[in-house]
Amino acid sequence: MIRGKRILLIISGGIAAYKALDLIRRLRERGVLVRCIMTRSATEFVTPLAVGALAGERAYVDLFSLSDESEIGHIRLAREADLVVVAPATANLLARMATGLADDLASTVLLATDRPILVAPAMNVQMWLHPATRANVATLAARGVSMVGPNEGPMAEAETGPGRMAEPLEIVAAIEAKLGCGPLEGRTALVTSGPTHEPIDPVRYIANRSSGKQGHAIAAALARLGARTVLVTGPTAEPVPPGVTAVPVETARDMLAACQAALPVDIVVCAAAVADWRVGDRAEQKLKKGGEGPPQLTLVENPDILATLSAPSPHRPALVVGFAAETEKVLEHAAAKRARKGCDWILANDVSPGTGTFGGDTNTVHLVTAEGSETWPTMSKRDVGDRLARRIADHFGSAQ
Ligand code: C5P
Repeated sequence: MIRGKRILLIISGGIAAYKALDLIRRLRERGVLVRCIMTRSATEFVTPLAVGALAGERAYVDLFSLSDESEIGHIRLAREADLVVVAPATANLLARMATGLADDLASTVLLATDRPILVAPAMNVQMWLHPATRANVATLAARGVSMVGPNEGPMAEAETGPGRMAEPLEIVAAIEAKLGCGPLEGRTALVTSGPTHEPIDPVRYIANRSSGKQGHAIAAALARLGARTVLVTGPTAEPVPPGVTAVPVETARDMLAACQAALPVDIVVCAAAVADWRVGDRAEQKLKKGGEGPPQLTLVENPDILATLSAPSPHRPALVVGFAAETEKVLEHAAAKRARKGCDWILANDVSPGTGTFGGDTNTVHLVTAEGSETWPTMSKRDVGDRLARRIADHFGSAQ
């Protein structure tokens, strides 16, 4: 439970400072105790009065204010929190953190604290992409500072690209994950992702165009909500998300074995594009062009991982979610697939050529459950992951 946790929120001076007000409100309505420090420039964007009123406690700004030091010294400020959150974190404050400067109350507290730190960067795209900021971010990450965002999207200066501060609810989720108290804390999840490679001979294989982006995003989102998450992944270029245990596999049969080894779990999401068939008589040596014409490949059916994990058994996961990649009659086919595979939910998407779903960064999905179906707006695969993870958390919350 996040209720009763103490957050020290440091607000630095960027236009995203206005979102810090909403963040304070979201935290307070969850029963979190929020104490705020503002940099001088943050006070140009939002007033200490507004921040203090929402937090229910005055906002601290000055390092050399005598009353601050007598009421509560900066060392106490730095230590009396379960987590220090910097939102927004400007390029300037990240640079000062990386260098270890202590020239105002915010930077001094950040240097003096022994608490975990989460930063939500917000800045212009060029500033975010600048090698100096990249280096500062890498330095902070190496020191164990966690990061939420920045997101891509329209910015105040009418430029697009990474730099936009994460939304307050995303920051709340990151805080919950960092404190190990997300809504899926204590739950276990298994996600399959990516394609499978089915060997023809030692150098050739049958594969498909799955990038693994959606499955990896789902695993990341489940982990952010606190689920202990195993990601069984076919070959992809996607990095393993933080906090997720990855089990790399090649073939459908390896993927099934890895999934079964991860049982029992509470949640399964099968997002992998598993090859339906494998070559039954794979050659031990590389096939050669010869006088006898092209080789004949005999295909045999692969195990259906989703159907296997959905089958009634004492270890059947409480919630099994499958995907349906369709090119026509998406909802109709998805509902039929849900029944045929025996899973609880299906996320259906249109993968016709032109939708850009395979390999792309966005997805348009429909969630099909026993109660009916709902269509989600087109969103990034990361957002689909977050929305699905939230739905799963709500499902378990209401099932309790
Ligand atoms: O049958 P189809 O491939 O259309 O079903 C898609 C769903 O089934 C996805 O969730 C996919 O991960 C899963 N699947 C599986 N094992 C297979 C084939 C599909 O888990 N052999």
